[in-house]
Amino acid sequence: MVQWTDFERTTIQDIFSKIDYESVGHQALTRCLVVYPWTQRYFSKFGNLYNAAAILGNPKVAAHGLTVMRGLEKAVKNMDNIKSTYADLSVLHSEQLHVDPQNFRLLADCITIVVASVLGSSFTAEVQAALQKFLAVIVSALGKQYY
Ligand code: HEM
Repeated sequence: MVQWTDFERTTIQDIFSKIDYESVGHQALTRCLVVYPWTQRYFSKFGNLYNAAAILGNPKVAAHGLTVMRGLEKAVKNMDNIKSTYADLSVLHSEQLHVDPQNFRLLADCITIVVASVLGSSFTAEVQAALQKFLAVIVSALGKQYY
């Protein structure tokens, strides 16, 4: 089981209570699709992902960004049970969506970048470390059903 310090727990709760899920999810998924264009192949039913402006303006990208953030919220509420909380989501991404698990890390990095831009100077090195540890656990849990 993953061990969390009090600082890490408080920091994760604090970040997720402060950020706007809709905006952070939208921006993070947009960045992922622009910076790592091969991730677009999984979202072909979302329609026009022709360039950065089209991706940013695509309402399905915005809606799915929110879905991802709500998925993360489940982990925030179950920090001691992230692997079991994500078991079904891992099966979905591996067996139905066939998402290459390397991509989880890429989206996680985009989330870190967007959270950093929102929090500004309060995004200290310790806060970054806590967020990246949390996201690394998510990435590992999502990849669990692949092995
Ligand atoms: C669906 C979470 C990473 C591709 C979903 C859903 C959630 C979710 C909650 C909805 C599941 C449902 O409908 O029951 C996450 C989280 C991620 C992540 C927390 C990592 C932080 C990725 C990545 C890709 C991806 C990196 C592809 C590059 C998809 C696709 C769907 C989906 C294609 C289905 C979309 C649809 O049919 O509307 N994801 N996901 N996910 N995810 Fe992920």
